[in-house]
Amino acid sequence: KKLGVVGVPVSKGQRRDGTDKGPKFLRDGGLLERLKKIGCEVKDYGDVDFGYIDNDMPHEHVKNPRNIARGSLKTADQVERCLRTEGHCLAIGGDHSMAIGTIIGHARVHPDMAVLWIDAHADINTPLTSDSGNIHGMPLSFVAHELDPYVPHMPGWDEVQPCIGLDQIAWIGLRDVDPLERKIIDKFDMNAFSMHDIDLHGIKNILDMALKAVDPEGVRPIHVSFDVDALDPVHTPSTGTPVSGGLSVREMCYIAEELALTGRLAMIDVAEVNPALGDSKDVDVTVRTTIDVIARFYGQRRQGIAPTGTDIP
Ligand code: ARG
Ligand code: MN
Ligand code: MN
Ligand code: MN
Repeated sequence: KKLGVVGVPVSKGQRRDGTDKGPKFLRDGGLLERLKKIGCEVKDYGDVDFGYIDNDMPHEHVKNPRNIARGSLKTADQVERCLRTEGHCLAIGGDHSMAIGTIIGHARVHPDMAVLWIDAHADINTPLTSDSGNIHGMPLSFVAHELDPYVPHMPGWDEVQPCIGLDQIAWIGLRDVDPLERKIIDKFDMNAFSMHDIDLHGIKNILDMALKAVDPEGVRPIHVSFDVDALDPVHTPSTGTPVSGGLSVREMCYIAEELALTGRLAMIDVAEVNPALGDSKDVDVTVRTTIDVIARFYGQRRQGIAPTGTDIP
């Protein structure tokens, strides 16, 4: 399977340095070799050049607005090019503000895509509902048509325009949703599956429900936006906003293997790996687990895969 990898080394969507090194750590951890080993024809598109501009004063309390807008548009261009050339794109971040660019880029190619947002957080704050002012908690508010009236205009953001409907989005793994985010989810009757729902119905049923919600006919290209904090912090400790009680590696492997079987995965984001957090063991387990999960999105299976055209010697 042909696949392009795009590094999105953004860190200004939140407060802590380090997510800008996510792409490097995933590459150095052997991500591309792993994908090649399982039969992917991988082309590395390198990293999007964020080249931060100075004097990016906060807009109200929203931090780094010009840099994030600029980087998002560059990311969108790179993702679009990658998808048109390779058919499949893996974007490695980077904090979760990276998804503004990946979703805009993806929507230029597949406007009908279904987005599965796998995360402890909903990331649908608007600049007005956000307490933190960190844009990584807001990406979905910028890409959804229905929220356009709620999103104030910010300097540098004129070209960042909504591109999908809220009914094209489903969350899996939620366990830290801000009160006003919950208000948005309820008002628009969105497809939000929390850890409570997973406890109640099991991961198989929840994945079925999520897919049914965003892709009832089973025909849409799928965009997975995977925030590594969806996993329990014992598995991915090196991340900026860990929340206990997360997905097990087994649940995540199930999601990845099952989505791979649909044959419709077009785009995957991997967000919030922060190698500056925790000790070297934390970083190591975070990178290894993340690469392991990614491999399962691209065909690696726990049941094993027999070689083609080779008999038992
Ligand atoms: N809801 C909080 C905020 O808006 C936390 C967001 C965390 N997002 C993330 N991509 N890790 O600031
Ligand atoms: Mn998160
Ligand atoms: Mn607008
Ligand atoms: Mn997130």
